[in-house]
Amino acid sequence: MLSVGQPETVADQEAAEPGWPVRGDGMLDDVNVRVSSPVMVGRAGPLAVLEAALARSRSDSSSVVLVGGEAGVGKSRLVSDFGRRAQAAGARVLVGGCLEIGTDGLPFAPFTAILRGLVRDLGPDGAADLLPGGAAREFARLLPEFGEPVPEADAGVARVRLFEQMLALVERLSESEPLVLVVEDAHWADRSTRDLLAFLIGSQPILDCVLIVVTYRSDELHRTHPLRPLLAELSRMRWVERLELARLGRLDSDELVARILGREPDPALADEVYRRTEGNPLFIEELLRCGRSLADGLPESLRDLVLDAAQRLPEETQDVLRAASGGGQYVGHELLAAVTDLTDDALARRLRPAVASNVLTADGEGYAFRHALIREAVHDDLLPGERTRLHTRFAEVLGANPGLVPPGRSAIEQANHWYYAHDNACALKSAWQAAGAAEAALAYAEQLSLLSRVLELWDKVPDAAERIGASHLTVLQRTAAAAQAAGDYQLGIAIASAGLKEVDQLAEPVQAAHLLERRAALYLYTDGDDASADLQLALKLVPPGVDDAARARVLANQARQLPAPRWVEAQAAAEEAAVLASKAGDPGTQATAMCELAIIKARSGANPAALELFAEARTVAGQANAWASMLQIAVNESHFLEGMGEHDRAAQAARAGIAQAQAYGLARSTGTFLAINVAEPLAALGRWDEAIEVIDHALALSPPHLNRVGLRLLAAEIALRRGELAAAQDNLAAAQAALGGYRHPRYGDQYLLPLVQLRAELWLAQGRSADAVEVVASVLDRIDLSDGARYVWPLLIAGATVSVAAAQDATARRDRAGAEQASDLLARLIELSGRMDAAGPAQQAGKLTFAASVPTGAAGPDALAAWDEAAAAWGKLKQPYQLAAALLRAAEAALASANRDGAAERLRRAAELANELGARPLREEIGAVARNSRIALEPNGAIEPSGPTGLGLTAREFEVLRLVAEGRSNPEIAAELFISRKTASVHVSNILAKLGVTSRGEAAAAAHKLHLFDPVP
Ligand SMILES: Nc1ncnc2c1ncn2[C@@H]1O[C@H](COP(=O)(O)OP(=O)(O)OP(=O)(O)O)[C@@H](O)[C@H]1O
Ligand SMILES: [Mg+2]
Repeated sequence: MLSVGQPETVADQEAAEPGWPVRGDGMLDDVNVRVSSPVMVGRAGPLAVLEAALARSRSDSSSVVLVGGEAGVGKSRLVSDFGRRAQAAGARVLVGGCLEIGTDGLPFAPFTAILRGLVRDLGPDGAADLLPGGAAREFARLLPEFGEPVPEADAGVARVRLFEQMLALVERLSESEPLVLVVEDAHWADRSTRDLLAFLIGSQPILDCVLIVVTYRSDELHRTHPLRPLLAELSRMRWVERLELARLGRLDSDELVARILGREPDPALADEVYRRTEGNPLFIEELLRCGRSLADGLPESLRDLVLDAAQRLPEETQDVLRAASGGGQYVGHELLAAVTDLTDDALARRLRPAVASNVLTADGEGYAFRHALIREAVHDDLLPGERTRLHTRFAEVLGANPGLVPPGRSAIEQANHWYYAHDNACALKSAWQAAGAAEAALAYAEQLSLLSRVLELWDKVPDAAERIGASHLTVLQRTAAAAQAAGDYQLGIAIASAGLKEVDQLAEPVQAAHLLERRAALYLYTDGDDASADLQLALKLVPPGVDDAARARVLANQARQLPAPRWVEAQAAAEEAAVLASKAGDPGTQATAMCELAIIKARSGANPAALELFAEARTVAGQANAWASMLQIAVNESHFLEGMGEHDRAAQAARAGIAQAQAYGLARSTGTFLAINVAEPLAALGRWDEAIEVIDHALALSPPHLNRVGLRLLAAEIALRRGELAAAQDNLAAAQAALGGYRHPRYGDQYLLPLVQLRAELWLAQGRSADAVEVVASVLDRIDLSDGARYVWPLLIAGATVSVAAAQDATARRDRAGAEQASDLLARLIELSGRMDAAGPAQQAGKLTFAASVPTGAAGPDALAAWDEAAAAWGKLKQPYQLAAALLRAAEAALASANRDGAAERLRRAAELANELGARPLREEIGAVARNSRIALEPNGAIEPSGPTGLGLTAREFEVLRLVAEGRSNPEIAAELFISRKTASVHVSNILAKLGVTSRGEAAAAAHKLHLFDPVP
């Protein structure tokens, strides 16, 4: 999708406070953070494992799933979400947990809890009735509700009887409905519980319809833990399955943060949360709970939690752990030996218990803390003086022997140690040096934080400028540049502004012009700020003849920022910039200026000239290895190729750009922006799986806000075309949240118009045609025709479809006002279309489609010709979805003039395309039209019956939807289909979820819209 000018992002950090905004200082602006997420995030895989096990236990035999995972990773959440679903599907779910107490505290604790749950459900008598006479009293040992325990002299016999009774109970319970037994936290199970569990699991083959789920903390299973042999033994049984629950990935972690906060998190916050918690949901919750700033250290509750195991280690081991915590998440054996002054053997001996108890993991060369928060908590435990000495020691050891850390890491590690050792002078100097190394390694985010640290320390070191051999102003300039490269635009603007306060414009005009130019470039990524004042002043500071290179940069920037209607000025600026830059020997700026010229040409429709200029610019930039210009060219060239309908070439150009972005360390920012430009043409070409792969990969890199908007919009479009309405809805909601109030004067339409278009299409698919009319109408006044024509045509087409459908709906309801609103919208769309350009074949195809979509009263041959023309245009562009849709409409036009053969031929082609694409709703519509006119879609085939294929409904759900569409209630549906009311209601809620609607009325409307139940004439 996107665009001219530049890639990426709006880093929407908090407004800079006085002083330097320090990166990574997680900001939580609202206090009313939700304690936990209302929805479970990212566990589709494990849920499917559990659901399959339940299905298996219903059909063939009973089964068992052992769910392991570290503390807080979400075992209980998973199991309880699953339990709720199982219950809704008619199973009985009983849960019991083991308690953390000594081994002989409360035997059978989880089974006591399970019985208590049963008694709660059925009452003591109801529960006792399930058992053969008198057996209930056996359970009195566990629960006093069952009366006095039977006295039994032989404890062994009593135990056997108890086990048998438990098995009998399970068997009885599972006769009437499937039974799910959950035993939580088996790592704390006492001996008796383990035995009973083993007995029940071993007896599974004689049971039907029972699923046993056991959870345990895998990180607590040290070498001699008594659960280990049991797990090993159980795992050998055929009906037992193990499921290891992993931490959340980056994408899911971000989503969890967003769900807990109730909004999209600031990227810096999301970064920090993931870095510290490594995707452990409990840690994420605790960290977010702790208040305004994440920089205040760990909340007490979390510290106790993560330190628990470490504090049980021998004192000498804890000493070495504390030392290791100074080295970071991973510390090499040799480095740690040098820092602690221990021999290899002594070090290994002391750390062995930490490895055995899973506090550390060892890989042969060094040690990693099992979780980043363990390291943080151990390190926080150091006294201030100890911490200073420890880091000084690390810095000195590394200074003497940089080879103790991997190549390239020594400078930054030393810089960090001096910083944490509070040696300001050494910290300042080493941060400056490390920033240079980071820049050379293209690690801009790291460079930025090191430079920010130099600025932070500046006033604390009296002779700072002499020590690093650079002035404060120079540091500011470098920092602003690093902020731009790292995608932290607000910080860049703040730094450039600070530099402008410091610089004397009369004495140092070139320096001042540089800073103004930098700030203007940064404004391009942010909301609304006007760069033109900065650029004008900068041009005055470097008039012709003063400094060609500086003037060239300002002019190139100006060419980019001038709005499209002022293209004459922009062209003049770009031309002068290219000449001056070439004279000054600055190929990067020269290439940028040529790229701007290409954009100006492309906008006026001079496509061959534009592509030639892009190619020349690429050569100039490539020869000089000017990466910023190369990427700018990749972004713009792919954007324009796509606009021209050259989908293949667009995807290729953008892919090449991604590879460059990766090579330059910009995979997350520019790379994910280019991913949009790869996915968009793939989506147009109907290569949806590939597009989704690109999108998912980019989203997993946690891209900046606007890039996420573009990616989510494409994902929503594909989901919508596939009939995955709930997924479409989720993606649109995510896009909207990420877009927030963004309204950039130049680029806003690229996001807003597709958002509105897709929202309207989704609502139409969900039967909400009046809402769809409203959302399209709401945006028409705000459209900027000069820049956005390519995003306007799809909106107009969707708008026309929406208003025609809404007018029909309203007429059917005798809703005069609604019908008027719909026809008003159509009139406005037609008026707007009259004022619109249609440059290039893609926009031409859009224009033809819009013209055909507008009902002119001309049915028959005219309409047929109009749709055929549109179809031909899409066919030439190789856009199969749009082609199939146009063919369908052409077929309807053919039918209207009794041209059955013409209709049949078009419907068959359309059906074939829709099948290949997996465009289920479109395929459904094609099927409905064919059915209504008794046309066979396969030559010589039969008339297709209406079917459940369209929306991923099962055959049963399709039946239920038919009854819902007829307005039947759950009891009526239950009676008609011979199912229980509860089952009927489960079906209805599944249907609502799959259609992405919230009420039965909407579901019925959606079914009608899709012609699901049109009678066969
Ligand atoms: N996938 C998820 N989506 C949203 N929230 C989650 C998810 N997984 C876990 N949580 C939340 O994280 C917290 C910890 O999860 P949970 O209690 O399920 O962990 P656990 O693995 O059972 O830990 P323990 O070993 O301590 O019992 C809970 O508040 C839970 O609601
Ligand atoms: Mg738990």
